[in-house]
Amino acid sequence: MAINAPEGTYDLLPDQKLFWEQFKNTARDVFGRYGYLPIETPSMERTDLFVRGIGEATDVVSKEMFEVLSGGNMAKVLAGETLPAKKRLSLRPEGTAGVVRACVQHDLVPQGAPPAKLMYAGPMFRAERPQQGRQREFNQVGIECLGADDPSIDAEAIIMLMRFFAEVGIPHTSMTLLLNSMGCATCRPAYRDAVRAYMEQHVDALCDTCRQRMDLNPLRAFDCKNSECAAVMEDAPKIGEYLCDECQAHYAQVRGLLELAGIQYVEDARLVRGLDYYTRTVFEVQVAGSGKAQNAIGGGGRYDKLAEEIGGRPTPGFGFALGFERCVHVLEDAGHAFPHAHACQAFVACVDDEVRTDAFALAQILRDAGVAAETDHQHRSLKSQFKLADKLGAQVVVILGPDELREGNVRIRDMRSHEETVVPKDVAAGTVASLL
Ligand code: HAM
Repeated sequence: MAINAPEGTYDLLPDQKLFWEQFKNTARDVFGRYGYLPIETPSMERTDLFVRGIGEATDVVSKEMFEVLSGGNMAKVLAGETLPAKKRLSLRPEGTAGVVRACVQHDLVPQGAPPAKLMYAGPMFRAERPQQGRQREFNQVGIECLGADDPSIDAEAIIMLMRFFAEVGIPHTSMTLLLNSMGCATCRPAYRDAVRAYMEQHVDALCDTCRQRMDLNPLRAFDCKNSECAAVMEDAPKIGEYLCDECQAHYAQVRGLLELAGIQYVEDARLVRGLDYYTRTVFEVQVAGSGKAQNAIGGGGRYDKLAEEIGGRPTPGFGFALGFERCVHVLEDAGHAFPHAHACQAFVACVDDEVRTDAFALAQILRDAGVAAETDHQHRSLKSQFKLADKLGAQVVVILGPDELREGNVRIRDMRSHEETVVPKDVAAGTVASLL
């Protein structure tokens, strides 16, 4: 039986790969205007980075991480040995922890320096149950800004994300920006206690998972998909009533700056996000009316304690990531015209086998002159070569016939105007280039 790609993973075929490249270029362009520079961190990191950074009790860390074992270490683990922390590796489930680790490791935010604005794009890995819009390997584009806690950073990044979505063609009307503040180390504990106390009162109506979460991570119950839990959590205490004065002021300024920029948002007191590092602002962009369970195309927030959690200096941070595949689904639903990958600008066709070697050589000359050129490798008839040239998207076909070649000439057809000219073989590359 043929071997397919692993469950929850998929291939980016040439058209899709071209779109992914364009998507990343648009991100580089839009985010670059806001001062974000590219960074690339490893696809795997030490497991304890994610445990400490994202939080042991989160689904992402407790259930969804792919641990990486080399052959030698696999044997040790199977023999019951516990590996030292530096040998325990996991595929990254998200990009924030790795970027913050890199900032700490390379001291990218020295004291008194301007904020480090970084962007990344690449695959993330989560061992989730695969379904439409939920893969085990998926591509994210994300940004992280470290070294500033001003609400203007939060607002600027959210505005930038909405500009990006507009630029790639996601219809404005299909998106809802949800916004909340999760408070800080001063005010969140009291809120968490209040939610836990509320859940204890309604414990009989909660699912097993929420009951288990109650002690360690009660706020996760806001994300539970079980309808009875959702009904209970509807009336749970709201974070807004618990925010300290500083968090309230910070949140008000983020909202004010978004309003100034004409960005519409919906406040959602139940938006808690699935990663433990968030403080203050959190947000998510959801696609409305799709009826799909996986409707968040992007999200993020502030994480002012994360650098310290992983052993760095206190360094406030803000960031977001968006899911490429989910954006593609939204664009498909909106009837977006995706690009087609063309491998060929000029096709060198042979009238018969006698001229094959010349055709092979001319294709090389065209490529050396910067033209994407292809020729026939399957001994097709001239008619079939023309069909192939058309299929490959060639704008020009260079026809080599024995009679013309004897006189040192080739025939060049412009595939759009269907005009043909006979030119000396030596100037063919220049003529082709002038027609593209
Ligand atoms: P996240 O909400 O877990 O945040 O993921 C961001 C986006 O990645 C989601 O909105 C979704 O579009 C996409 N995504 C997540 N999981 C999957 C999956 N299994 N299959 C397909 N797409 C998926 C983060 O990852 C944070 N690191 C964002 C952030 C950056 N916060 C601060 N800085």
